[in-house]
Parts: sequence; C-alpha cells; structure tokens
Amino acid sequence: MISRAQGPPISITGLGCYVPERVLTNEELATIVDTSDEWIRDRTGIRERRIAAESEAMSDLSLPACRRALEMAGLDANDIDLIIVATVTPDMAFPATAALLADELGMPDAAAYDLSAGCTGFMYAIAQAYGMVASGLSRRSLVVGGDILSRVLDWTDRSTLVLFGDGAGAVVLEHVERGGFLGFELGADGSGGRELLLPQSGSRVFNGEARHLTMNGREVFKFATRVMVTSAQAILDACGKTVDDVDVYVPHQANVRIIDHAVKKLGFPREKVIVNVDRYGNTSSGSIPLALADAADDGRLEPGKLVLMTGMGAGLTWGSALIEWTHSTTGALQ
Ligand code: ACO
Repeated sequence: MISRAQGPPISITGLGCYVPERVLTNEELATIVDTSDEWIRDRTGIRERRIAAESEAMSDLSLPACRRALEMAGLDANDIDLIIVATVTPDMAFPATAALLADELGMPDAAAYDLSAGCTGFMYAIAQAYGMVASGLSRRSLVVGGDILSRVLDWTDRSTLVLFGDGAGAVVLEHVERGGFLGFELGADGSGGRELLLPQSGSRVFNGEARHLTMNGREVFKFATRVMVTSAQAILDACGKTVDDVDVYVPHQANVRIIDHAVKKLGFPREKVIVNVDRYGNTSSGSIPLALADAADDGRLEPGKLVLMTGMGAGLTWGSALIEWTHSTTGALQ
C-alpha cells in the first residue's frame, strides 16, 4: 500500500517517550549467556538496553509517554477521540491495552484498540490514525508504540537475548495549517512469518515449543536490508522527493549494521541519520518514537525539516512515512 497523502494537512503535534529505569549492559548479559561485549557491539552496535521491572506492563510504560505527548500538544486527555496502541506485548490479549490506557488517562469518549504489526506497528498505527483524522472520523488521535520484549525472550538463547530492550513512545496526530504527513508506504509478506514469531501466543498450538520469541536472524537480516531501502525509495518516489530533500532519516533501530547498509544504499550523509540502538537495543514499536525524541533533543528535528521514517519487523512487515515536521518536540523523554 502506497499513497501520497491526499487529505488536509495533519501532523504530529506532541511526542512523549518512556524507558524503564533498569539498564542492562552487555557485560551483565555476558554473565547470563555465553556472549561478550565485543561480539554484541561488533555485530549489532548495541551497548546497553532498558529492562522493565516485573511490576511494569506495557500500559505502565505507555502512561508517562502519553501524558508527555498530550502536555506537549497542549491538550487534555478528553480532547482525544481515538487511541491506538501498537504492540506485540500488550498487558494481556484482552482487554486492549489501549482501552486500559484510555481509562487511566481519562478519555471516556475515545475509541481504543491495539494493533499488531511487529516492530512496524508504530508505522502502521500512525498511517491508520492519519486516515482516521483525514477522513473526519477522529478529530485528534493518540498513537502509542512500544514493547516489553524482555518478557517474551528466552533468557538462555544468546542469539536473541542480546538484541532487544523495552520502551514506549506516544504521538498526537491532529490537523495543522500546513506541513505534516506527505505519504505512507506499508507492506507485509506473511510467507516470511515463520522467520520471526512468538509461538503459543494465540490460538495456534505449537507442539513442544515454549512461549519465547523465535527468530531466524540471518533471514530477518536479509529481509531488513532489502525493505529498508525499497520502502524508503518507494515513498520518496511517490511523494516526488529525493534523498537530498530529506533532512532527518529515522530508521528502525534493530541493528547498526542494518542501518549502515540502508544509509549506504540510499546515500544519506551520516549527520542526517538518527542512531540510538547503542543505548536502547531494539525496542520494537518504541524504536522510532525514541529515535525521534533523541533527534529533537540534539537539535536535528525542528519545524520545517523533512523527516523519513522506516520500520520493519515481524509479519514480515515494513512501513515508511514522510513528514514535514511542524512542531518543536524537545524534551519528549520522561
Ligand atoms: N554472542 C556470541 N556469539 C553469538 C551470539 C552472541 N550473542 N549470538 C550468536 N552467536 C554466534 C552464533 O552461534 C554463530 O556461531 P557459529 O558460527 O559457531 O554457529 C556466530 O555467532 C555467527 O552467528 P550469525 O547468526 O551468523 O551472526 P550474524 O552476524 O548474522 O548476527 C544477528 C546475528 C545480530 C542476529 C543478525 O543476524 C541480525 O541482526 N539479524 C536481524 C535481527 C533483527 O533485526 N531482528 C528484529 C526484527 S524487528 C522485530 O519485529 C522484532
């Protein structure tokens, strides 16, 4: 699915992020499984990640992120009529984490549901919220992206344990006078579903398999390096833009080698590329909002800048969005 945005100008007017306090370093991981700081840094670029406390669920990480996004947008919770939570680690299968959050935030009139598209969830959710606002079904939407993948990792499997971290981000989408979203490109290839999955998490019975994230790292790597480039090129073409027009490139933060490959193929200069996988690991749907927060805080994300975001993940899915940034979003991280 690809389209240049046809409707009225709609933008991100508030951004909030939250990561758990607990920092887990590579050195500590090396005391749990047979790995080393050197291997993890060389193969992934990750130095440390955040891990949620046992008492923290997805809604707990999302709540401060939502509050910050609303505050930044200058809105009350009851100004929001739609909340979508993109996650593969909701508090529970039902009720939706979005419904729990709507209640905690005080949004009695909001539609609230969760969306599952792996690490691409945030991209899918902002596209969907854009459509809801553009069509007039929603006046103002809150989109949350995040995960607590530490909860579903096999803590004896070094090939997946070192890659992921926990975190969440939230954005407010609403009408603006000018600027905002230029277009979206989203896709899915279910034939690659088996390369990255969480068995025993739904109605399918997996004989003998535990409920742990399972990944064919090499296949996902090949997929990721391909779609990070094709999706970005497709959305730029659809919107009549080139790499030179883009001021800020925000790729999904899975592995610095995947980012480096995309950056080289697309031809982005280093200073336009946001990288924070070293501090957070792969936070799944939290990755792009957390990278946006970093970009705002280091002065690279300002009103008027053209921003390209591309995510990819389980499904296998991918998605890009192109947006002319309209609001200052510094200080998003709680
Ligand atoms: N520490 C030390 N050695 C390790 C570790 C580790 N943590 N993990 C694997 N190894 C070993 C392997 O056992 C293998 O040993 P062998 O050669 O004796 O068999 C060796 O290192 C090389 O393994 P490879 O899998 O070839 O390593 P590679 O360089 O491909 O890196 C990695 C693996 C980092 C997983 C890479 O394939 C990758 O990043 N894939 C993409 C993953 C990804 O992005 N997933 C998220 C998608 S988004 C979502 O929706 C969740």
